[in-house]
Amino acid sequence: MPPTYRLATLADIPALEALIPLSARTLQLGYYTPAQIEAALGTVFGVDTQLIRDGTYFVAVATDPATAAERLVGCGGWSQRKTLYGGDRGKTGPDPLRDPATEPAMIRAFFVHPDFARRGIGRHLMARSEAGARAAGFRSIEIVATLPGEPLYATFGYAAVERFALTLPDGTPLPVVRLRKLPRP
Ligand SMILES: CC(C)(COP(=O)(O)OP(=O)(O)OC[C@H]1O[C@@H](n2cnc3c(N)ncnc32)[C@H](O)[C@@H]1OP(=O)(O)O)[C@@H](O)C(=O)NCCC(=O)NCCS
Repeated sequence: MPPTYRLATLADIPALEALIPLSARTLQLGYYTPAQIEAALGTVFGVDTQLIRDGTYFVAVATDPATAAERLVGCGGWSQRKTLYGGDRGKTGPDPLRDPATEPAMIRAFFVHPDFARRGIGRHLMARSEAGARAAGFRSIEIVATLPGEPLYATFGYAAVERFALTLPDGTPLPVVRLRKLPRP
């Protein structure tokens, strides 16, 4: 049965906090070392509850056909806020709104369950996120992406504008890429 999609709620936070490390520790191997992944979990790879409160963060939910039990198998969204990336623990103060007329929206925090990778969940969440940002009036969209995230975003027409490394709390560098999709003519 294909997953269903809905807006995330604050009640999803415990499940998101379980999904994100599982996704990162499995699907980022080969792109990042285990030390980089562990150093990024919690701050860079974490839940930003502002996105949930804003109604701009989505989850994919799979239902077990035998038991009807539901579990979160993907998450991702977009942001109208200044913060570029990361979870609550990476923030230090208020997170003001961006101006859709002059600033890009940000794609944020995509994580898919390893058992459900390459089944189109990331693609589906991207389509919802882009539609949300455009409906809010944003004309361009950017992403500070992990290296494993880059192939998904490239399929949506995002191109690298800057490659740099974040310095994680313990000093470990994490290479990332800033991607931009220009407005439609
Ligand atoms: C990046 C991520 C969200 C992609 O999710 P996904 O549901 O597996 O992606 P999809 O199945 O929707 O992939 C859509 C397309 O993106 C591209 N793509 C996605 N993952 C890819 C990979 N690992 N290698 C190459 N291309 C990839 C392919 O073109 C794919 O289409 P195809 O499967 O028909 O070839 C997932 O790998 C993930 O959670 N990674 C770990 C967390 C992370 O780094 N997230 C990015 C944060 S910026």
